[in-house]
Amino acid sequence: LYHVLGAKQFDREQLDRLFGSAKEMEQVAVRGGIQRYPNKIMSTLFFEASTRTRFSFESAMHRLGGRVIGTENASQFSSTIKGETLEDTIRIIAGYSDLIVMRHTEIGAAKRAAAVSGVPVINAGDGSGEHPTQALLDLYTIQKEFGGIDGVHIAMIGDLTYGRTVHSLSYLLANYKDVRISFVSPDNVRIPTYVKQYLEEKRVAYEESSDLEALAGSADVFYQTRIQKERFPSLEEYSKAEGKFIIDRKLVDAMKRNALILHPLPRAGEIDTEVDGDPRAAYFRQAQNGLYIRMALIEQCLGGERQGGEG
Ligand code: CP
Repeated sequence: LYHVLGAKQFDREQLDRLFGSAKEMEQVAVRGGIQRYPNKIMSTLFFEASTRTRFSFESAMHRLGGRVIGTENASQFSSTIKGETLEDTIRIIAGYSDLIVMRHTEIGAAKRAAAVSGVPVINAGDGSGEHPTQALLDLYTIQKEFGGIDGVHIAMIGDLTYGRTVHSLSYLLANYKDVRISFVSPDNVRIPTYVKQYLEEKRVAYEESSDLEALAGSADVFYQTRIQKERFPSLEEYSKAEGKFIIDRKLVDAMKRNALILHPLPRAGEIDTEVDGDPRAAYFRQAQNGLYIRMALIEQCLGGERQGGEG
């Protein structure tokens, strides 16, 4: 089975193949879709809220001619609330569908699910662990906008402790040459040591900074993230991190003419809406790319991608 559980499972060759497939999916989507999987069913099992990931996965399956089943809020409306274990839930749902897309509150939940699932599992976010499909669409966006990823200097900004997208994106960037990462965050949400250790193993150049203005004229990509209030142990800790490192008109004016501003979204004030009309603000284009990447991932899972997949 080909599961998508974490960003480290992807090598450069697989990324090139996935991005090639996503490009083809753009054309498929423009034509309204294709009846490729009329007899396949995808389950969406979301224990946390979502707009982009869930809607784009569901749209992707529909565009590929498949069907989707799920519950609005798995924490509340699945039998988890009666005490059923994740493992039992997955065993049951795997019997009703051909693919499971799951978002869960706990780090490692997707791996637990894959261990007992008879069908492929896609990790749509596991707590503050990883969000590999988001990072794949982030990288695809950089490739589309710049024509390549080698040599890119990316500033990752905001909640780097709980921000699962920055963890996954850091791992994926290790596949490219001469990448430089500047981590910019409040002191209490710095990038975790385990992410830094991975980058060191892979010889990726990185630095930690608390001076976003100093990077404005040199970074190619500004990857802004939300301070995730819901993941902090206390409101006091959250208040130490909120409201810092805002991307506003003044900062954008200091950026390179061809810089790229990305955000996995949703945002909560950390990118001023006055920036939205600037051509460098690519976050809505980025979210649109999620549809194409997820169509390509569904095809890999249902079409039998074998090389390098986990499980
Ligand atoms: N980027 C992202 O995961 O958005 P949602 O939480 O809306 O799915």
